[in-house]
Amino acid sequence: MESESLTVVDNRTGIEYSIPIVDGAIRATDLGQITGLDGTGLLSFDPAYLNTASCRSAVTYIDGDVGILRYRGYPIEQVAEQAGFLETCYLLLEGELPTPSALDRWSDDVRSHTYVHTNINEFLAGFRYDAHPMGMLLGAVGALSTFYPDAKHISDPENRYLQRVRLIAKLPTIAAYIFRHSRGLPYVLPRNDLDYIGNFVNMTFEIGGRHEPNPVLQRALEILFILHADHEQNCSTSAVRSVGSSQVDPFSAVSAGIAALYGPLHGGANEAVLTMLDQIDDLANVPAFVEAVKDGSAGTRLMGFGHRVYKSYDPRATLVKKVADSVFAETGLNPKLEIALELERIALEDEYFVSRKLYPNVDFYSGLIYQAMGYSREYFTVLFALGRLPGWIAQWEEMLTDPETKIARPRQIYTGVAERPFVPLENR
Ligand code: CMC
Repeated sequence: MESESLTVVDNRTGIEYSIPIVDGAIRATDLGQITGLDGTGLLSFDPAYLNTASCRSAVTYIDGDVGILRYRGYPIEQVAEQAGFLETCYLLLEGELPTPSALDRWSDDVRSHTYVHTNINEFLAGFRYDAHPMGMLLGAVGALSTFYPDAKHISDPENRYLQRVRLIAKLPTIAAYIFRHSRGLPYVLPRNDLDYIGNFVNMTFEIGGRHEPNPVLQRALEILFILHADHEQNCSTSAVRSVGSSQVDPFSAVSAGIAALYGPLHGGANEAVLTMLDQIDDLANVPAFVEAVKDGSAGTRLMGFGHRVYKSYDPRATLVKKVADSVFAETGLNPKLEIALELERIALEDEYFVSRKLYPNVDFYSGLIYQAMGYSREYFTVLFALGRLPGWIAQWEEMLTDPETKIARPRQIYTGVAERPFVPLENR
């Protein structure tokens, strides 16, 4: 079969270049044969990676035009409905659904690593009572690298497996401690007789040795974790890959992912949605707020709306809405829900949002659910991080085992001053 190529004619020189197309992409390095600035090779310029594939990946597939999301080929709707969270972790990490015995082994491995070193308690105690939970989480996960110096041996697959288990087992424990820190409550130790989600919920809400688990809310939380588990090359995953490409340990790479997730344009949007709903305050204020978003006077975007890849309804948002129904049937309606529904109704009919293909994303309704479950808004993004963790690790592992991986090191277009002589302090 004839190989595909792109012919580029440099109209400065008349020279014709043939650039191979492989898997629907050209290699940016192939542009280097064309003369760019100052006689060096032509660069491609794409500061926000709008049209640049940064890697090959077999983990997650998204078709943003029609709203498709698949984990290892399985439609998200089926995974969310039928899988457990640890099963989803296994699927993302290993590439296949586990057999019953493989799932038992994997769950046992995770269960036997849920405790954290007691010095982590002291580390967390050093934070102010009002420290943001995401700041605490990224600090604590970075600190974990000092507890497990063996995690530096990233070329050893067995060692990587151990760190993977540690991360998935210990993050809920640390996250629960962070939840209790802000309330001044003593930490509750992991209970390994409970399942993954049940143990996490117990560590957050148990008081005086008692907590009545609500299976509907626990399954709802599990589905939310599954819906967040991976989303290909998003900002935090790219951060994990980029930082991990320096061959640092996985705790440090994951803490970089947590830092990226913290931002309001990424995972922090779930917290920002609630702040926005507070700002709107009343159903009657919704139309004026939408107008203010459009003319820029609101000082915010419509948080929980829009996505770099989805140019139709985010399939996760559809599933989150179903989860909301099951949760609110248990807890009673969140009073902010009416405002959110009205915002969505107006935005989906408004030319501004329609023409820009802005639809509700996964963060639009998730915060309302977390709030109904009893989590404070500053904590929402921590819950997102717990869900996204297996995706970060799967992508980190894929990056490390890809023979094409090199340290991530973008180029730049220099816009500064050309050479000039240094001026001594006394002459300035
Ligand atoms: N509200 C109002 N206008 C918007 C919004 C929004 N939420 N999102 C995009 N736009 C406008 C934007 O102003 C621009 O308009 P114009 O062409 O007139 O300048 C146009 O739509 C394209 O926006 P963009 O910033 O070029 O799009 P992007 O792909 O770079 O950004 C995004 C994607 C998710 C950062 C953005 O849609 C956004 O800021 N949304 C609000 C924050 C949010 O909900 N983030 C969660 C994303 S999903 C889960 C996750 O990743 O954590």
